[in-house]
Amino acid sequence: MAKPREAAQGTARTMAMKGGGYYSQRTRGAKDVIDNAAGMLVEAADAISRPGKGMPVTLADFGAADGGTSESALRKCIERIRERFPGTQIQVSYTDLPSNDFSALFKNLLGFGSLTSNTYLTDIENVYVNACGIGFHKQLLPDASLDIGFSATAMHYISEKPCPIENHVHMVGASGRTLVAYAEQARQNWNDLLVARAKELRPGGRLVMLNFGIDEQGRYLGNTGGFNMFDTFAGIWRQMCDEGMISQAEFVNTSFPQYYRTVEEFCAPFKDNDSPVYQAGLRLVSAKTGVVGCPYRRAFDETGSAMSAREFAESYVPTLRSWSEAVFLSGLNEARPMEERHQIVDMFYQRYEDRVASDPSGHAMDYVHCYLAVKKTADQP
Ligand SMILES: C[S@@+](CC[C@H](N)C(=O)[O-])C[C@H]1O[C@@H](n2cnc3c(N)ncnc32)[C@H](O)[C@@H]1O
Repeated sequence: MAKPREAAQGTARTMAMKGGGYYSQRTRGAKDVIDNAAGMLVEAADAISRPGKGMPVTLADFGAADGGTSESALRKCIERIRERFPGTQIQVSYTDLPSNDFSALFKNLLGFGSLTSNTYLTDIENVYVNACGIGFHKQLLPDASLDIGFSATAMHYISEKPCPIENHVHMVGASGRTLVAYAEQARQNWNDLLVARAKELRPGGRLVMLNFGIDEQGRYLGNTGGFNMFDTFAGIWRQMCDEGMISQAEFVNTSFPQYYRTVEEFCAPFKDNDSPVYQAGLRLVSAKTGVVGCPYRRAFDETGSAMSAREFAESYVPTLRSWSEAVFLSGLNEARPMEERHQIVDMFYQRYEDRVASDPSGHAMDYVHCYLAVKKTADQP
């Protein structure tokens, strides 16, 4: 059994998004999810109480990647805070894992990135940003210092994989004891991270969390009717194993450190008055699920014959790669030279692309989220 620190380091290695600004450039769908939910951040800005004299209003984005996808929604939140509390200083803390490309984040915020030259940081005065490269399962900010905590598409990452998944690469393909072990790990992580946020929040503070999950109809990311994206990942990886390109040990060593919670699992700690989360003062304001369609699929469907199946595949597969590549790379034996590992992973995504190009029907990565608004009661510690 790995020691906790080793386990955390190992998991962090498999989680990083592709850096150099690639993440935001290739992940339009994640930005659509956040932009669609910007109203929840504005509602949170309407709900928080006036800061004490001379105190800033503090926001945090937990699991922010390169910050590009949340910039526009955070701007709306910041503008509303400014309307309500003119002259107040605003602090935005970005958090992610130590392996995250924080350089890309600051370039994006300063307008040097490839996304836009104007951001809330370049346009609005008296806004200060900083970053923390420590995982969100721990408390990251001082007690009662946070007004609005935000997180999008990040809290499905668990702190460590409880066991290998023998026949698949994701818990959505797991069953029996393996699935139970993942569910227990995710339950513990959800409780821990919520208690940590409860400590950070000021009384009256808010959390807005847009989390990947499984909706009431059993849908989840890349599984909304057509081909199941995770089954496709597992199928191609298995094929490469059967052909001897990767070993059986490498196949088993490859799995996402993720768990897709159901709405019941998300809401459970708020419904139990004795749970540490409830006791720490967190209360559920709202919970709902929603599907945001795959923008690459939409563009293909809308352009008709103007876009070839190959062009669709070339636009679509990089968005899968932006967040999954590290998992496949880290599953490979470290004795292989790095160049060889990259060649294998290039081949893997090439096969996915070829499969989509040969018949694009049923391929789409629709986003399925549970949208949660939470408040910290005013009368708790
Ligand atoms: C799919 S990206 C989402 C990024 C951005 N929030 C968005 O919605 O576009 C998931 C992010 O969560 C981060 N992440 C995963 N586990 C984390 C942890 N334990 N603590 C902090 N960040 C984590 C990853 O490094 C990655 O940047």
